[in-house]
Amino acid sequence: MSELSLDGRVAIVTGAGGGLGRVYALELARAGAQVVVNDVGGSVDGAAAAESPAQAVVEEIEALGGKAIASTDTVATVEGGRSLVRTAVERFGRVDVLVNNAGILRDRSFAKLDWDDFGAVHDVHLRGAAHVTQPAFLQMKEQGYGRLVFVSSNAGTFGNFGQAAYGSAKAGIIGLSNVLAIEGGRDGILSNVVCPIARTRMTESIFAPGTAEPEHVAGLVVYLASEACAVTHQVFSAGAGRYSRVFTGLSEGWVSPDGAPASAEDVARHLEQICDTQRYTVPQSAADELAELSDLLEPAEA
Ligand code: NAI
Repeated sequence: MSELSLDGRVAIVTGAGGGLGRVYALELARAGAQVVVNDVGGSVDGAAAAESPAQAVVEEIEALGGKAIASTDTVATVEGGRSLVRTAVERFGRVDVLVNNAGILRDRSFAKLDWDDFGAVHDVHLRGAAHVTQPAFLQMKEQGYGRLVFVSSNAGTFGNFGQAAYGSAKAGIIGLSNVLAIEGGRDGILSNVVCPIARTRMTESIFAPGTAEPEHVAGLVVYLASEACAVTHQVFSAGAGRYSRVFTGLSEGWVSPDGAPASAEDVARHLEQICDTQRYTVPQSAADELAELSDLLEPAEA
């Protein structure tokens, strides 16, 4: 058996009726996991469909000899998230892996912001990920084991014109994963983020067929979902055969004399040194950053 086998493991993949999620679900099943294939169906902008494509993916998994069940719960509500996790526990007895992949797009420039669209995008991506993860996290804590895989985007990590709602929700997902990597660590729960680049219906106008396919991303997701996964608290970019780590670094910066408050002029004068990324650290928590300031900061009296 491969050390990356997911035999006996139970995985939930949200938004797995098509695109990247479908391929994640198929590859997790191929690796041995029993999979809850979740999808509400609908168009890229989230307009609901009469039928969910989840059952068709379940049939694909069964045709491979795997075990799967469909869920048509929406991730956009607290109750949808609870119901989805309940389905996994009632049918397969546990939740080992959660891939928070469901997503919609409603792009427009910030100047033309529509608050309903902003809310809908946050409901599916950031709140949606939290709606499913909270009940799954409780189940994983009880088991003393879990693998959380969140899906972000380079629109969130680096920014992209026209994607204020999407980019802010996707950046928020990284914050959520970072906190859960810390909160889940002592209960055997690992939490990581994947930023995919792949040709799906969401991106078919950007990438030609063949070079950046969902299959180029799935191996990383299966690795992060496996017991052998040796990382937590990380963000990865995967697409077109390139696999990279994305990280938030803290430059060495400039320290004002005696830690005195800097004036605006001081900041302007030292901006180059403040922004210089030749020397940096990658703190693994807020406490890590504060530890770097220990010469300058004194804790409050208890
Ligand atoms: P897709 O549109 O094929 O997949 C998204 C799936 O989520 C759809 O099947 C949709 O029905 C489902 N979904 C939407 N709202 C839902 C809800 N409320 N509850 C449950 N399911 C829901 O698009 P794609 O490209 O496969 O996207 C998958 C994820 O990857 C998304 O989170 C997307 O933002 C992210 N992503 C994709 C990139 C790409 O290059 N394709 C780039 C960066 C991020």
